Parts: sequence; structure tokens; C-alpha cells
Amino acid sequence: MTSVTKVVIPVAGLGTRFLPATKAVPKEMLPVVDKPAIQYVVEEAVAAGLTDVLMVTGRGKGAIEDHFDHVVELQHTLERKGELDRLGRVTASTDLARIHFVRQGTPLGLGHAVLAGADHVGDHPFAVQLGDDLIDARDPLLPTMIAAQETLGGSVIALMEVDPGQIHLYGCAGVEPSDPSAGLGEDIVRVTDMVEKPDADQALSNLAMIGRYVLSPAVFDVLRQTPPGRDGEIQLTDALQTLASMPTEQGGGVHGVIFRGRRYDTGDRLDYLKAVVQLGSDREDLGPDFVGWLREFVASR
Ligand code: G1P
Repeated sequence: MTSVTKVVIPVAGLGTRFLPATKAVPKEMLPVVDKPAIQYVVEEAVAAGLTDVLMVTGRGKGAIEDHFDHVVELQHTLERKGELDRLGRVTASTDLARIHFVRQGTPLGLGHAVLAGADHVGDHPFAVQLGDDLIDARDPLLPTMIAAQETLGGSVIALMEVDPGQIHLYGCAGVEPSDPSAGLGEDIVRVTDMVEKPDADQALSNLAMIGRYVLSPAVFDVLRQTPPGRDGEIQLTDALQTLASMPTEQGGGVHGVIFRGRRYDTGDRLDYLKAVVQLGSDREDLGPDFVGWLREFVASR
């Protein structure tokens, strides 16, 4: 039984990169093959033992709540027709986890969204997942982060090596090797500094922060004191920078897990297309036909 059971998922973002698709549909509901992106995220949480999900929502995000709720008429109809396979696909999202919702109110940034989870989370370490990042279920990341947090305390962030030309799209971390006596391997590092979306010449490294965090509850007090930063928003990265220099006894210290698995950025249109193709190709039911067609299609271009 893990000590980390709660996860905060901010879903209040406007999804402007995906207009007009996101004019009336939350970006988190865009399908990746046949499941909304947000369902992959919740499935990942549940697979990591996180059973208590808090979504930080905003206006126009009601479809997310509906997606994780029962839809009685549809379920009855499918039951009556004996279409149990389809019924299973409808109820799968409902039965996943205990899902709670809180409104962010004014959207003042990612740090502000996480702070909206303070009352629900209480005084235990908790996870944060950003819905734009999908982590392939075959390359689990959260369990490694949770284990690192349990061993080292403080907070743990997920890092990924990116092309230096891409670092301005991410939080960027400066790191050093972690204490070898903890025996956690070289992909777990101590994070000394973080900066939100630096220009390439200001970057601390090519290590980008990706959307998975396991945070000390000390982050809430720090967020309350964190002034608006990059883009005038209260940045989670800035709060983590403060935590990195605080003593462990006060919930300080930040470590990073360098992730080398498959990640899809469904918030970016090109990466979204790639995610659909990759995950569709790997599906037992659709993959063989799809890949056959894809080969012919590409050869004909
Ligand atoms: C957020 C974080 C950033 C992180 C990124 C990962 O930025 O602020 O530090 O690197 O998520 O996806 P956003 O992409 O929401 O602008």
C-alpha cells in the first residue's frame, strides 16, 4: 500500500492550441483513438495506486464530469440489447476511481490550480498529472516517482531530455547526482534549480520538466507566497524552486526522475496526430488493419 493515494489533475486550461475543436469541447475530451485523453491519464493514476482523484476544473468543462459519471439511459439500453462489450466501455471510466471536482475560479496559472487542491489533499504527499502529457502505460513513470519520494522525502519531478531548441516550451531543471547511498540509480537526480520556459541561452540543461509530479504538502504554503512569474501566472516551477532550497524537515528538497519511455504531448497538434497513429497501431483490434493501410498510404505519397 503506497502512502501516496491522491492526485490533483488541473483541467481548467482553455485549449487554445486546438481551436476550433476546443470551442465547445474541453481539450481533455479529445479522443486518442477511441478514448478521451483524460481517461488515459486517470487510468495511469489508478495503475500507480492513486485512487483519489481531484480535478481542478473551470467553466465549460462539464463534459469531463459527465464522462466519469454513470449514463443510466445508455447503460440500460445496452444492457437490454445484450451489448455487454459496449456497456463495459461505457462503465469503465465510471468505475475507475473516486473522482472529485473543484473549481479553480480565476485561472491564475498552474501553481494556482494546484493550490486549489490544498483542502482536499491535506497533509500528505500527493501526485499531480497534467492532462496534455500522456505516458504510455507500458512505460510506467509514477510508481518510480512515488518510490523515490518515499525514500528521499520532499518532492519529485519528472524530467525528459529534449532537443535544446525545444526547452523554451518547458520548465527546465539544473541537476546533480543524487546521494549514491540511497541506491536509486543514475536516473534519479537531485534538482538544484528550476526555471520556467527559459530561452535556449538561459537553459540550465536539456532536461525538461514533464507533466508528472509527486509533491510535498509544503508546496501549498509556498504557493500561497509565490508571486506571479512567467506570463504573469503563478508558476508551479517557481514554487518548486523555493522548495529546492528549503530543509528536508520543512518538506523541502526536490529530486528528479529522468524518464526515457514513451510520452505523447496531446496538447500539440502534430504530437496529437502522432499519438493517435502510434497508439492506434499498437491496438490489437485496430492495429493490424490500420498499419497495413498506413504502409500503403505512406508509400503512395
Ligand atoms: C506546464 C509547466 C511546465 C512544464 C509543462 C509540461 O507548462 O508550467 O513547467 O514543463 O507543463 O507539459 P504548460 O505546457 O502548461 O504551459
